Amino acid sequence: MTEPILQVSGLYKHYPLTRGVLFKKRVGSVKAVDGVDFALGKGETLGIVGESGCGKSTVAKLLVSLERPTRGRIRYKGEDITRLSGRALKAVRRNIQMVFQDPYTSLNPRMTVGDIVGEPYEIHPEAAPKGDRRRRVRELLDVVGLNPEHINRYPHQFSGGQRQRIGIARGLALRPEVIVADEPVSALDVSVQAQVVNLLDRLQREFELSYLFIAHDLSIVRHISDRVGVMYLGRIVEIGSDEQIYGRPTHPYTQALLSAVPVPDPEAREGRERIILTGDVPSPTDVPSGCRFRTRCWKARERCAQEVPVLAVPEPLRDLGGAAAHASACHFAGVDHGNDRP
Ligand SMILES: Nc1ncnc2c1ncn2[C@@H]1O[C@H](COP(=O)(O)OP(=O)(O)OP(=O)(O)O)[C@@H](O)[C@H]1O
Ligand code: SF4
Ligand SMILES: [Mg+2]
Repeated sequence: MTEPILQVSGLYKHYPLTRGVLFKKRVGSVKAVDGVDFALGKGETLGIVGESGCGKSTVAKLLVSLERPTRGRIRYKGEDITRLSGRALKAVRRNIQMVFQDPYTSLNPRMTVGDIVGEPYEIHPEAAPKGDRRRRVRELLDVVGLNPEHINRYPHQFSGGQRQRIGIARGLALRPEVIVADEPVSALDVSVQAQVVNLLDRLQREFELSYLFIAHDLSIVRHISDRVGVMYLGRIVEIGSDEQIYGRPTHPYTQALLSAVPVPDPEAREGRERIILTGDVPSPTDVPSGCRFRTRCWKARERCAQEVPVLAVPEPLRDLGGAAAHASACHFAGVDHGNDRP
């Protein structure tokens, strides 16, 4: 990894779970993010993958300061930004921008494209002098592959892919260094997903951006990510380079997710068994003791209910070296998932 631009350590976001309307009594908490650690390198793309409800969007919102963490730290270029407020927070926010999942609902239908893309200049007037904003917006439209002549059109006059380009242009308006893209292509037709991914890829090189790219499917992030983190129930359970995660996954959850991804190469497909996970994802209000994946894990043993596995390179794999030696939160992490099932 290159020099880190973002460092996340011990990050938690628990939402209070209340009962009653008048006297809101706290009866528990939704552990949306429950101990997340990772770093994002400068110019790097880190993919974050996991099933619905595992806390991906909450991580995204914490990074762009739309939410405050319950506990933990986010550092931007070494500076702790978690407790910033007022002007200092605003200054940092400029550098970390978000692209949202659904270009159909995230763009105000009553605003013109020009106003949408230029909106960040209203919030950060210091970023561009008033007289220069239209010109900048036109340039941004051009950069994301839209016709600058369409600056006065409304979102409904564009296709889904074009609307996501509008969202990306808005994300770029303040010339941020980090883009947090929360499932930026999930709502789009498969045929345009690749175009938007390619656009993000090109913009990254042109503007030296660092990306946190969120998806619920390992296949989408594969082409764009340098590293991938797999989330389960509020935590990252495995993280590593592209080759490590796709070639030598060691956590049973990642192995299960990958076994469901279609493989175009028949040789690679051979010998790979499809792992069907049984049971539902537990509720984030009631996280299992020990390893949170144990209620669905085919490898689970007694130790898994007692001890929380930490996200680190597992001891037996450390000496092996190679692609298997990367961080995995499993007491029995291994690469031979096909042979050790009961
Ligand atoms: N404001 C909130 N108040 C209470 N619970 C919340 C709040 N926001 C999110 N949650 C809960 O936190 C958990 C994580 O939600 P989050 O939106 O981060 O998941 P996600 O991984 O982005 O899911 P998806 O793939 O569906 O977008 C879910 O159980 C969700 O219901
Ligand atoms: S720690 Fe145990 S339950 Fe958790 S993933 Fe590893 S084997 Fe499965
Ligand atoms: Mg989400």
